[in-house]
Amino acid sequence: MSSIYSEIILDYYRNPRNKGKLDRAQIRAKDTNPLCGDVIEIQMELDGDSKVKDIRFNGMGCAISQASASMLTELVKGKSLDEARKISKEDILSLIGGQLSAVRLKCALLSLKVMKTGLYNYIGSLENAKEELSSL
Ligand code: FES
Repeated sequence: MSSIYSEIILDYYRNPRNKGKLDRAQIRAKDTNPLCGDVIEIQMELDGDSKVKDIRFNGMGCAISQASASMLTELVKGKSLDEARKISKEDILSLIGGQLSAVRLKCALLSLKVMKTGLYNYIGSLENAKEELSSL
């Protein structure tokens, strides 16, 4: 990893963007990196049912996991749920920059996994709710 990317990661680690909690989050998810036990939680507040009005992350972990979570929140904020759902691991890795080992890859992608888990749970619950309502 080049030093410019390392500096960007350290900046996000030391000055995290969108770190904290939301009082009115409709989407919440939390997961652990099984390799180290570090945890990331993501909360999203929606504008209606379709747009991410605000997003926060919280947790503990290495510089890459915290920086990538912070970068992810900047990427997701203001996007529709569908656009957020389409964010790929390549999108995150291009923000992080450089080549990562398999272990570091887990660190970098933990927040994306958490965000998608929250999204799919929410979308699934909406689908279930629609199905349930349409059968009444
Ligand atoms: Fe735990 Fe990176 S070492 S998330």
